[in-house]
Amino acid sequence: MREYNTIDDFNFEDKTVLLRVDFNMPLDKNTFEILDTTRIKRALPTIKELIDKKAKIVILAHQGRQGSWDFINLQTHAQALEELLEKPVRFIDDIYKEKAKDAIKNMHAGEIIMLDNVRKFNGETDKKTAEEHAQSELVENLYPLADYFVNDAFAAAHRQQCSLIGFTAVLASCAGRLMEKELTTLGNIISNPEKPSVFLFGGAKFSDTIVTIQRLLEKKTADKIILTGLPANAFLKAEGIKLGEKNEEMLAKEGKPELYEDIKKLLEKYKENIYLPTDFGQQSNTDRSEINVSDLPTNYNLFDIGEKSIENFKSIISDAKTVFLSGPCGVFENPEFMKGTQEIFTYVANSPVYSIVGGGHTVAAVEKLGLNQQINHISTGGGSLEKFMMGEKLPVVEALKNAKNKFS
Ligand code: 3PG
Ligand code: MG
Repeated sequence: MREYNTIDDFNFEDKTVLLRVDFNMPLDKNTFEILDTTRIKRALPTIKELIDKKAKIVILAHQGRQGSWDFINLQTHAQALEELLEKPVRFIDDIYKEKAKDAIKNMHAGEIIMLDNVRKFNGETDKKTAEEHAQSELVENLYPLADYFVNDAFAAAHRQQCSLIGFTAVLASCAGRLMEKELTTLGNIISNPEKPSVFLFGGAKFSDTIVTIQRLLEKKTADKIILTGLPANAFLKAEGIKLGEKNEEMLAKEGKPELYEDIKKLLEKYKENIYLPTDFGQQSNTDRSEINVSDLPTNYNLFDIGEKSIENFKSIISDAKTVFLSGPCGVFENPEFMKGTQEIFTYVANSPVYSIVGGGHTVAAVEKLGLNQQINHISTGGGSLEKFMMGEKLPVVEALKNAKNKFS
């Protein structure tokens, strides 16, 4: 039995749907152009299905945060959606006042409008329950005009915000297709991955990664953990290895000293399951050179895993049935230090393992390497994916489970 409704559970013909998506995009700082439309593309199946089912579609979304440079209206987003959908999308520069309400009342079947950035509403980011958010001006004004609430914003599923959960208290609600796919696919990986399962972590953050790794090993979700990027450096440091001043400085920006005690404990308990690099690619003057961990410390920046580590990690992956990639193996934006990411990601993409990729930088690396088609599931989540992998409940999913109408 499914714990939440999906698009299959309702008849949308001639019905008004409030569709919450996550179109929070990376923008160009000067032109405010959208730099990557992945999140729009991934919401298209839901939107197209609702059009086919003759719904009247009212899209709700956010961009940036109040006070941030990328906090803009959603006109560009509506235009981008219109181009990708090849159907008109009308932008309304209002969220829940007369202009928005009139537009919604006058819609016809198959029509799409996009309301303005929901974060312009001051109560949007209040941390409240679904019932409390349902008493907001936003929900109270919009819900009487709608029949259903569809949530497809998996990437924002870790937020307890008004437009993400408030409508579930007052409208029959369901998950959109993207939300459904993310929850089903990632849920299977977390609860029942095909074994052996290998989780690779990299990138430039490691404080949250420690908890994630701990949970994955405790629950035996992950059989093996491969560490690259900054998490690898942090684990080596916790083992007492001196990395050199430049590399220690980079770690200091992210990690509090207590974190190393947590890593030490994790390493003691799971020594057999955690794999660290044995060598690195370092930036010596202008070129890349290889350095063994046994030859550290170094005066240079460690910007990639080394050639021996690449081979070792490939052989670990070759035995796996499931591989999860979270974070590039090095500074892949720089061609000299792309090697680890390129070789490992390409190896995963071309092998018969079930492959999952998550996180903004990881997805960007997969795109840059042209591997999209070969990866089994590319998650749109960043923060939400991290929380999900840690085994934490996602407020948006909980709200969908407790939504006003339960059918199954
Ligand atoms: C995201 O991109 O992380 C989500 O859209 C949530 O946005 P937020 O991190 O600003 O809450
Ligand atoms: Mg975020």
